[in-house]
Amino acid sequence: MSQMQAPQGAMKSVLHEQRAFPPHADFVAKTRIDAARLDAMRAEAAADPVGFWAELARKHLAWQTPFTQALDDSAAPNYRWFVDGRTNASVNCLDRHLGTRGDKPAIRFEGEGGDVRIWTYRELHAEVCRLANGLKSLGIAKGDRVVIYMPHSPEAVIAMQACARIGAIHSVVFGGFSSSSLRDRVIDAGARLVITADGGWRAGNIVELKKAVDEALSSGCEAVGKVIVFKRTAQAVGWKQGRDLWWHELLATQSAQCEPEWVEAEHPLFLLYTSGSTGKPKGVQHATGGYLLNATVTSLWVFDYQDSDVFWCTADVGWITGHSYVAYGPLSNGVTMMIYEGAPTVPDAGRFWKICQDHGVTIFYTAPTAIRALMKLGEEWPAKYDLSRLRLLGSVGEPINPEAWIWYHRVIGKEKLPIIDTWWQTETGAAMISPLPGAMPAKPGSCTQALPGIFVDVVDEAGVSIPSQEASGYLVITHPWPSMLRTVWGDNDRYVKTYFGQFADRQWTDEHGTRRMLYVAGDSVHRDADGYHWILGRVDDVLNVSGHRLGTMEVESALVSHPRVAEAAVVGRPHEVKGEAVFAFVVCKGPRPEGEEAASLAKELREHVGKQIGAIAKPDDVRFADNLPKTRSGKIMRRLLRSIAKGEEITQDISTLENPGIVAQLQGR
Ligand code: PRX
Repeated sequence: MSQMQAPQGAMKSVLHEQRAFPPHADFVAKTRIDAARLDAMRAEAAADPVGFWAELARKHLAWQTPFTQALDDSAAPNYRWFVDGRTNASVNCLDRHLGTRGDKPAIRFEGEGGDVRIWTYRELHAEVCRLANGLKSLGIAKGDRVVIYMPHSPEAVIAMQACARIGAIHSVVFGGFSSSSLRDRVIDAGARLVITADGGWRAGNIVELKKAVDEALSSGCEAVGKVIVFKRTAQAVGWKQGRDLWWHELLATQSAQCEPEWVEAEHPLFLLYTSGSTGKPKGVQHATGGYLLNATVTSLWVFDYQDSDVFWCTADVGWITGHSYVAYGPLSNGVTMMIYEGAPTVPDAGRFWKICQDHGVTIFYTAPTAIRALMKLGEEWPAKYDLSRLRLLGSVGEPINPEAWIWYHRVIGKEKLPIIDTWWQTETGAAMISPLPGAMPAKPGSCTQALPGIFVDVVDEAGVSIPSQEASGYLVITHPWPSMLRTVWGDNDRYVKTYFGQFADRQWTDEHGTRRMLYVAGDSVHRDADGYHWILGRVDDVLNVSGHRLGTMEVESALVSHPRVAEAAVVGRPHEVKGEAVFAFVVCKGPRPEGEEAASLAKELREHVGKQIGAIAKPDDVRFADNLPKTRSGKIMRRLLRSIAKGEEITQDISTLENPGIVAQLQGR
């Protein structure tokens, strides 16, 4: 991990933000958790952190076999929760509601073209059972990996739930990833089956998912025996006899009842690949019981679910937010959720607000990048729609700048609705730091305080807790929690090293006898005088582009796989809408391209990266140079490149560079 960087540019302004917004009295009057209840929960958790979670697990999850041991820390940091209990995620999300909420809508779906479909809990249960039986008929069993590469749709949720029902481990790959990224994930997971669709709708175009699957499976994926294809866009697709099956044909003959496979709490529920600072994306592995517990209770606490709510988390199921707050959390709580397939600006900039109006959305949870984009399009768009049913707003995935927060509060929240800014990660499984909307004031740009049962700290370069209330440093989580990742699929050493390696010498056994280690989040943070947290950004070489995690090394490898590229270095630069944009410095084989040649090669390289990884990774800027700035020991000076990308004055000492003359060229001068 590189040296921690001081907060720069836009983030500095966050640290001067002083405004606080207490929850409105109307909200407090009806909230599930008020300030007094929050204090009581915190006290319970502090008195007995493991017992706190055990109690919640008994209360909020249905167990086939109750657990007797809440936490096994004997192999820390490979913690295990509720080890001798047996449960099933799909039973928790579906079966347990059939008696009381069978006819309640579980999903309200709207496609980009305006098609609407409502699924009741009973209908969803039946379809999940049919697909689960279909998977079994194809020989898929407990522990097998199934890759899901689908549009954002009820069927994607059904696919995830069907896997969970039979104990198969799903790995959802975001539909925006390229065939080559898909192939890497299929191979790494050792998947036996892929569930996809012919295509999905995005901004009026068909995203050709089946075509990408065919390309991905064309080499190196021999373990994949079957591909199930949901028909969505109905264009002609390639077909491999004996391997490919239509979803509707497979399900037509299956029973709508499927006995669940009761799995041990530690049984992997899913793998989700995410970017790190080195090497290829890693398969973050989550365990059934612990993951489901945090997804369930954080949904209840943070979103303050009431039975009448229509909850809309706009995240695609391809990301962790779409796992915890689309596929699992809302269903586990029996709430009604909204799923919208397409782009926020189709057919116009009012689409999100029209959906809120038409479907009676009460809770709206999205990413700052979407808020900033919608903000730019003007207040007249939300003004056209009746947003009066909204009662709670949320933000996730990246720091939200105070300006966007205030706009969200004023224009969408009518200065009345609470905003919850939730900090968490693919690895944490569920929200970790967030306001409870009826219990505490919010501050624009701060994710506030750790949730009950979650213990975070701010530490210095040596991993030592900074004693003062006001502190800036590394964000660490100091106590294991149920939904923490269990390992990196197939690479436990990487798990231990990445998350617990930096401060490995700081381990202790606490007063309850729990073995504690510091989980290093990879973010830098500021804690203010009120104990509120302000996330300043990543401390490693991971970018956050539109709320999506991207490793700079992944983009660099994609660039150097192009025949013209000799060397590349990728950094982030602040971007008004995306938060961060990808800036690539490229050294070509042969002479440095200039003028038109440079423009056309830059375009080609963007497309190349899009093909290698996916559209989200396409560099916004490509700058060609004869060389990269290197120290005499051959290290690329990334800090210097970051300053150049931001267009800042160079204050670093460049005299130690092997090639100081290169700086002006890198600056485009
Ligand atoms: O840097 C933090 C940022 O997103 C990273 C995690 O990315 P990912 O695993 O893709 O999960 C995103 C959705 C949970 C974090 O290390 N991040 C996430 N939420 C926030 C945030 N930064 C600031 N504020 C947040 N609310």
